[in-house]
Amino acid sequence: MKRWSGRLLTMFVIAGLVPAVVAWAEYADVTINTQSEAEGVAPVIFPHWFHRIRFQCSVCHVDLDIRMGAGTTGITMEKLIDGQYCGACHNGNIAWSIDNCDLCHSGRPGLETGVKGGHETMGPGLY
Ligand code: HEC
Ligand code: HEC
Ligand code: HEC
Repeated sequence: MKRWSGRLLTMFVIAGLVPAVVAWAEYADVTINTQSEAEGVAPVIFPHWFHRIRFQCSVCHVDLDIRMGAGTTGITMEKLIDGQYCGACHNGNIAWSIDNCDLCHSGRPGLETGVKGGHETMGPGLY
């Protein structure tokens, strides 16, 4: 009995909880606007799904110390130029460089920090 209930719990976790988290991470954009508009640039649209199919979660959320919460990491341009967070890859080597302001600051005005479906943000294609 004990063993069976343990299996049920495992099945519940596998069938229910885990895919919910993965789907969330995979199909949404994270919009980051804690300071952008206040500082005169467009909100950032981070296409989570695009990155997630190319890198393991741990590359960003462990190695690069990026928090699992929209707008909670405390990203600044100074840190990006210093090679932290997005700047670890967007350095003209692994990916296009930090000089391409509009590729990251691509959100329409008023977009709040949070997780949005691609249809809401228009994705990063709104360059
Ligand atoms: C290329 C880097 C990168 C990869 C790879 C990545 N993430 Fe993220 N993730 C981010 C960034 C950036 C944020 C937003 C952090 C911020 O705004 O401070 C984020 C936010 C999140 C959030 C919070 C969204 C919310 O609800 O507010 C979750 C959950 C998350 N990631 C899970 C995952 C999982 C699970 C994977 C792997 C399947 C993954 N991430 C892979 C960069 C990445
Ligand atoms: C682990 C490496 C890595 C990190 C960290 C990372 N990126 Fe990227 N990013 C990439 C790569 C690789 C590409 C593809 C570059 C190319 O096509 O030349 C990319 C592409 C993009 C694109 C374009 C997507 C498209 O549809 O063409 C945007 C926008 C972007 N990144 C924003 C960000 C932002 C904002 C952050 C930080 C919150 C970030 N990235 C962090 C590696 C990374
Ligand atoms: C690889 C993605 C990326 C690129 C390229 C990029 N930024 Fe940012 N930038 C961010 C992120 C993420 C934040 C944090 C957004 C927030 O919290 O509102 C940010 C924040 C800012 C801020 C407000 C905070 C601060 O540090 O002053 C300004 C201003 C800014 N960026 C200007 C620029 C300019 C100008 C360029 C081009 C020279 C640029 N950014 C290129 C991702 C990027």
